[in-house]
Amino acid sequence: MKGIILAGGLGKRLFPLTRNLSKQILPIYDKPMIYYPLSVLMLANIKDIAIIVKKEDYKMFNELLGNGSSLGIKIKYFIQKRPNGLPEAFLICKNFIKKKKVMLILGDNIFYSNGIVEILDKAKKNEGATIFSYQVKDPSRFGILNLKAKNKISSIIEKPKNSKSNLAITGMYFFDENVSKYTDELNFSKRGELEIVDLINIYLKKKKLNHSRLGRGFAWLDTGNFESLLEAGKFIEIIEKRQGLKIGCIEEIAFKKNFITKKQTEDLINSFPESDYKNYIRKILNE
Ligand code: G1P
Repeated sequence: MKGIILAGGLGKRLFPLTRNLSKQILPIYDKPMIYYPLSVLMLANIKDIAIIVKKEDYKMFNELLGNGSSLGIKIKYFIQKRPNGLPEAFLICKNFIKKKKVMLILGDNIFYSNGIVEILDKAKKNEGATIFSYQVKDPSRFGILNLKAKNKISSIIEKPKNSKSNLAITGMYFFDENVSKYTDELNFSKRGELEIVDLINIYLKKKKLNHSRLGRGFAWLDTGNFESLLEAGKFIEIIEKRQGLKIGCIEEIAFKKNFITKKQTEDLINSFPESDYKNYIRKILNE
């Protein structure tokens, strides 16, 4: 399975933080934002990863993560010229996906939960597409799922003005090998974008859509405005301080999942400056 992180977008609501910096590089407490979605792909055992970025951001992402080899994964970068909507990822990465299944995760979404690995493993085995829903207080900000009896999806609507349902579609999706073909069939919406809900609706019509509800013990945070950015950082800080464990530490995950050996991890952190982050990984290595 392939993985895609969408890290394009203008981050307009975060101006001037995003004036000369990609939103997905901004700090969420003690790490760049993209570490969190990248760690989710790694937890899903996905090692072949495309990161879609704006042209001007490529250099910085490449300096941050390189080709992934130090983490035992493969990272390729693709350029998105203009933000034309989430499904454009599948057109940009058509030759990367080839005939494989793919997991897409938005570069500004943070997922944290006990049991996330089992949730991902289960979704990987599904046929068709899989989406994840999560109850939110403000449904008008998200793609929303309407359910009928027996948990069946009746409709999916992008940012409804008035919605009875408060089940948002999170920024993590699994699609089968047909995803680029179906994306080709999409038309631009009124707001001039290819819409992820239109793509999901194709799978729904074909009865090939799976839905997994993330329960109340799950944390799904987005980071689109100043408030949510700060709150996400505080959330990570609180959990990390309490447990003495880090969330989204890509080196720890690479080591624990045997993507890299102990020696490779040691060599990797030898290039890091003396810091709490380095000490943390050193401690993990000696446990
Ligand atoms: C996008 C999707 C929306 C989804 C959301 C999750 O919205 O269009 O369906 O619920 O991501 O973060 P955006 O944040 O790009 O407005």
